[in-house]
Parts: sequence; structure tokens; C-alpha cells
Amino acid sequence: MNAESMIAADPALRAVADAEETAWINPRLLPFDMVDGLSQLVVSDADIADAAARLQRFAPFIRRAFPETEETNGLIESPLRPIPKMQQRLAAEYHAVIPGRLLLKMDSHLAIAGSVKARGGIYEVLKHAEDLAIGAGLLTIDDDYGKLADMRDFFARYTMQVGSTGNLGMSIGIMSAAIGFRVCVHMSADAKAWKKNLLRSHGVEVIEYADDYSRAVAEGRRASDADSMSHFVDDEKSVDLFLGYAAAAERLAAQLAGLDITVDSEHPLIVYIPAGVGGAPGGVSYGLRRLYHDNVHCFFVEPAQCPSVLLGVATQRYEQVSVHDIGIAGKTDADGLACASPSSLVTRIMTNHMAGVFTVSEAHLYDYLRDLNASEGIRIEPSSCASFAGPLGLLRFPDARAYCAMHGLTPERLGNATQIAWATGGRLVPEEIWTEYLATYR
Ligand SMILES: Cc1ncc(COP(=O)(O)O)c(C=O)c1O
Repeated sequence: MNAESMIAADPALRAVADAEETAWINPRLLPFDMVDGLSQLVVSDADIADAAARLQRFAPFIRRAFPETEETNGLIESPLRPIPKMQQRLAAEYHAVIPGRLLLKMDSHLAIAGSVKARGGIYEVLKHAEDLAIGAGLLTIDDDYGKLADMRDFFARYTMQVGSTGNLGMSIGIMSAAIGFRVCVHMSADAKAWKKNLLRSHGVEVIEYADDYSRAVAEGRRASDADSMSHFVDDEKSVDLFLGYAAAAERLAAQLAGLDITVDSEHPLIVYIPAGVGGAPGGVSYGLRRLYHDNVHCFFVEPAQCPSVLLGVATQRYEQVSVHDIGIAGKTDADGLACASPSSLVTRIMTNHMAGVFTVSEAHLYDYLRDLNASEGIRIEPSSCASFAGPLGLLRFPDARAYCAMHGLTPERLGNATQIAWATGGRLVPEEIWTEYLATYR
């Protein structure tokens, strides 16, 4: 399939092929009740509850291994913060109407690995460790999991491997090293040098490729398949990763309740999450849809230079499509979002759940980074800043306005809405890199 045939099938893809900022609205979004049954055959409520319970079981271990989680009793969770000054600043600077209340979900500041990828990545490492320890008769689910901290010699026989643009590698690397696994991270050319250095400082083996993320994943998968003691964390299709992300939804619901925020048909929730391969935004959005059904509207945000999830869902060619097919190089400063082809699992399971995708220009990533820093004193990495293209785009693009009209997002309901920009990374960025980011595209 080439650019012309894609555009012939969906004229909205013209702007995508031209790498313009745009809003692509998903024509296959269906009412929750219509897709619930089929979706649950793949990932059910019970699966998500099981994942949440597993994370709870691991809390004593996490607390022991990472004293920074003492305050949260070993749970890895991020703040949800109103950002009224950023909301005002965006509205004024970009002549935009941003209705309702804008909040920042700060996975950028998650403990341990400082990114949304920690949700899925850490979950999959822990699940694998639990499976191995239970299989060897060393653990039962009723034990205090703190004892896993004394089993490093057992875990040292096993290897974890992953292909990554950076942040998934950091979460797998740091948690695997804490458990005692040998760990090998296959990194794409887009991965930033500071992320590779940080991993090496944790004793992680980092293999670098001159190619893009798809190659790093393929090579990692191959190396792991050749070793019976190795487990590959497959960012392109892992259900365990997906479950780790999906478990975020219930925790967010508790935080919203804590802020006295209601979500119902009169008070919609609109969420914007940056997407690379789609796993993190897919899992989080899926979890939110399971809780809030049609009262939540889940948008992904991708660089205009690398809109792979958009293409996978729009063309229904899923992981078989690449941004190169539509004539885009896939090169972006948003290293975490530099995935030329999307996840096979996410593009399929989210086909009927996802509201659409906003795309963002390279320069705007840095503008939003400066805006957030200046208005709220919060720093998040460029990939993360993509999320602000959502609230700015909702009433800017005619197709997005048509989405609002079609889904009952009247001006009154939008006035009651909660909009969440999901900040997906940033805490571990070194100081000198901030100086560079703050001066880029200035
Ligand atoms: C900062 C940041 N945001 C968003 C994402 C997107 O996650 P996914 O690739 O699962 O779509 C990534 C992925 O690495 C990331 O590093």
C-alpha cells in the first residue's frame, strides 16, 4: 500500500502524508457495550484485576529495593495535578479555546524509571520473576514478597532482553537489575546517549543499532529466542506489558475521586497520551474505557514525522504498515515516539476504542516544554510534551470539532470536562540535557 492508495481510501490521510499537524478521527470507534464482549476475550476485567493484585503483592519487595517508594508503601504511582497556569498560557499563546479543567498526569515523575513505560515494563519483569520463583518452589502468592530481595543468586541464572527507544529499556533494565536478572537492552539509533549511559551505570548490557526501533526489537527477539534462559519483553505485542499499563486506570479513578472530580455523561473525561509503538497509551486507554465506557474519550498523540499508530489503525494494516509507506522518514526528536511501525496488539484491540490521533510538529514539542516549565515549573521530556497538542487541537481542527458534535460533547459538557495531558517521561533527564532542550527550536 502506498501513499496514494492510503489517501484514496481515507482523504484525511493527505495531511498525514504531508507531515502536517492534524487531527485524525477514528471512524471505527464504537459504543463500549458493542465491543465489550469481544475485547474481554483478549484482555478481560479479571486480567486487569489480576495485574493490579500482582503489583500489590510486589509492594514489599519494591519498598525494600527502592526506598524512594517508602512513602507510597511500595506502589509506583504518579501525581495527578491541575495545571491552570499552563491551561491559560496555552490558550493565550496559541489563541486556543481549552474548555473544562486541564490536569497533568505525571508519569514523567514516576518513581524508579521516570516514565510511563515503567508501568508495563516493571510489571512484566515482576511477573516473570514471580513465575520463575513459584515454578521453582521458592515462593507462594501468600508469602511476603520482600523475600525476593534475597534471591538474587537464583535470578542471576536468567536473562531479560528488550528492544527499546530508551524508556522501556530503562524500566526493564533498572527493575531487572534490582531483581538480579542479567539484562540486555537492544537500543535503536534514536535512543539518547544519556539513557544508554544511565543503563550501563546499572550494570545493564546495552547493544546499539544504527537502525530504527523495529530492527532493535527484531534483533532482541532473535537473540532471546536463541537462549532458553532468556525472556524477551516484546513491546510490539506483549499482553503483560499491556496489563501493566491498563492497571493505571483504577489508580487514576481513585485520584480523580480524591480531587472530587466526577466522570459521567455530563462530565466527560478526555485523555491525550503520546504514542510510540502504542503500548503505553493503548493499555492506559483500554483500562480507562473499561472503567468509564463512553464517558472517556481517549486520544493518542504522535509526532507528525512518525504517526505509526494512526496509520496502523486508519489503514487496518496494523503492524504491517510503516510510516515509510506514506512517504515519511520517521525521524523525530521525540525519541520515545520514534517507532515506524505500531504494535500489532494495540492497533487491533484499540481499533474500536480509540477516539483518534492528534499529530504534533517537532518545534511545538519544545515550545510546550518551555511553556510548562515557565508556567508551572514542571519539566517533562520532548516526547511527553506531545500530549499538549491534544487539548490545543480539540476545538481547532474541524474533524475534531465534528467528533465533539457527534459524541455529545456539547459546549456545556465540554465546560464540565476534565482534560488530562498524560506526561510520559522526564524525571531522569540530566541537568545539562534540560539546558539543551530549553534552547531547542527557539
Ligand atoms: C516518554 C515517552 N512517552 C511515550 C511513549 C510511548 O509509549 P509506547 O511506545 O508504548 O506507545 C514512550 C515510549 O518509549 C516514551 O518514552
